[in-house]
Amino acid sequence: MSKIEIKLSDIPEGKNMTFKWRGKPLFVRHRTEKEISAEEAVSLAELRDPQEDKDRVIKPKWVIVIGVCTHLGCVPISNAGDYGGYYCPCHGSHYDASGRIRKGPAPLNLEVPYYEFPDDDTVVVG
Ligand code: FES
Repeated sequence: MSKIEIKLSDIPEGKNMTFKWRGKPLFVRHRTEKEISAEEAVSLAELRDPQEDKDRVIKPKWVIVIGVCTHLGCVPISNAGDYGGYYCPCHGSHYDASGRIRKGPAPLNLEVPYYEFPDDDTVVVG
């Protein structure tokens, strides 16, 4: 019930795909090595809602977040904004490639839902 199963090999490296889950957009992002090392290197002191990248992912390659801006709920655009992650055009919030808020009015990082990997090519969210 209200789980979604996603085949990971359908999502090329460097791309973000949007699914619909429980009435909301769900972002699944296949990060590049460059994105992973950039996000792992960010210091907590730079962050408004301090969270280590490793505490937001299970496997560093995959970022899975709810695609709802924590400001007033618009849907951010992927691979956009000053931090290369997501950009919310409603009032200009910039998120990084870990889904963390970096600039603009949003107070919190994009929410990470519960998910698990039953095998190497599948994620189940919910
Ligand atoms: Fe995203 Fe306001 S709803 S910046």
